Amino acid sequence: MTDVDLESALPVFGSVPDAIIDAIAERGWYVGEEVLPASLMLALREDAQARRAAFDAAGTGRGLNHDIRRRLRTDAIQWLDGSSEAQRVWLEGCEALRLAFNRHLFMGLFNFECHYARYDSGDFYGKHLDAFRGERNRVLTVVTYLNPDWQPENGGELVIYRPDSDEELTRVLPRLGTLVVFLSEDYPHEVLPARQERLSIAGWYRINTSSSDRVDPAR
Ligand code: OGA
Ligand code: MN
Repeated sequence: MTDVDLESALPVFGSVPDAIIDAIAERGWYVGEEVLPASLMLALREDAQARRAAFDAAGTGRGLNHDIRRRLRTDAIQWLDGSSEAQRVWLEGCEALRLAFNRHLFMGLFNFECHYARYDSGDFYGKHLDAFRGERNRVLTVVTYLNPDWQPENGGELVIYRPDSDEELTRVLPRLGTLVVFLSEDYPHEVLPARQERLSIAGWYRINTSSSDRVDPAR
């Protein structure tokens, strides 16, 4: 496996946090192309591919039953746990971003979780919200892509919709180095069917919703 060049990959988000924070504060979403270090993204791609066998069909977690979920999404996922250098560098970057959000926007983000997702040809994720309004659990969604040579004809675009209508806000090709951030409760989005393998990392900053009578579920 490629050694991640820690020095060149840090800080992971470079000077981008200012732009992300401004965009979230002003309008609730951010898309940046070629903003993440290619060395780290390629190392994460290798890491994801090396773990191929350990990916599980998405939708096996808490909540809705498995069959219903598989009608909504057909990708396979694996949660990052910091067990490789590439993962640790990514998670460290996301931690720094968490602190920046809390410092500048007082968001009270409590933790971060993220998974690799693999969409094989034909796989999709129908229109959904990452968090239910009012639950205040997942607050901020972060998505990045691990596909170096993605072409428009390969499909697999992320489509983000306006909070209050079915109108499209933007479409994002899942290209290496692209970063997407949006408020989890506000923006419906979907992944159009991919026509070749599409690798991504989707993550969520959460606030702590534990209370004495309700333990915050881990996932
Ligand atoms: C998700 C998701 C978007 C993408 O995993 O919840 O919406 O572009 N992913 O992979
Ligand atoms: Mn989503």
